[in-house]
Amino acid sequence: MVNLNPEKLPRHVAVIMDGNGRWAKQRGLSRIKGHHKGADAVRDVVKTTRELGIPWLTLYAFSEENWKRSAFEVKTLMELLERFLKEELHEMLEHKIRLQCVGRISRLPQRTREALEVSIEKTKDNTAMTLTLALSYGGRQELTDAARAVGALIAAGRLSPDDISEQTISRYLYTYPMPDPDLLIRTGGEYRVSNFLLWQIAYTELYVTSIFWPDFGKSDYLAALENYQQRERRFGAVFD
Ligand code: FPP
Repeated sequence: MVNLNPEKLPRHVAVIMDGNGRWAKQRGLSRIKGHHKGADAVRDVVKTTRELGIPWLTLYAFSEENWKRSAFEVKTLMELLERFLKEELHEMLEHKIRLQCVGRISRLPQRTREALEVSIEKTKDNTAMTLTLALSYGGRQELTDAARAVGALIAAGRLSPDDISEQTISRYLYTYPMPDPDLLIRTGGEYRVSNFLLWQIAYTELYVTSIFWPDFGKSDYLAALENYQQRERRFGAVFD
């Protein structure tokens, strides 16, 4: 029985949704089938996050590295995303969910980008929860883009290198002005961060489960949150 303290829920949960392919392989199905089941798991985790009142959820839906997959898998994932956005728009509007995305979105196919732009625009004033999809996202790319932006300010004489602070860097990340994640969940059992939110997870609690993403259900999510609540977060300080 999961026992959650509503006072100690994370404000921002980030998820590396891994294991769609292995879930499918185990069942003798195509990887695509795994992604379809993965999209159902996305619906469930969004619903639970909303019901719990957690205001920020960020999902790693497509990494910069994922472009290296077969053209067929990339195309199918993009179409799946487009369909998901169109099908879920009604739910997002009904439950006051704001959609946004982080990543090099210009690389996405036009139809996916358009579906994304429509959902972002229509949900932009929603305040119950923010769902952020990381798409064509890479943490190093994000930091590189931030370095370019800061460099351009210096070149224009609008910033002195001595005035660069952590806040300056944060300001030019794709995630600005989101709070940093409190909890990062990774499914599929690998102990890696895979270029996800590298700057933002400096003090984030990590939770790895061997469950493959399509099987990650409400009870598994609640177990992760319960585990998070048992951690003592010190942010590098000492508390006696
Ligand atoms: C990892 O599984 C998952 C992905 C690369 C993409 C995540 C996509 C979804 C969950 C479905 C669609 C998303 C949305 C937002 C509707 P993998 O293929 O790397 O699995 P493997 O490691 O077992 O091969």
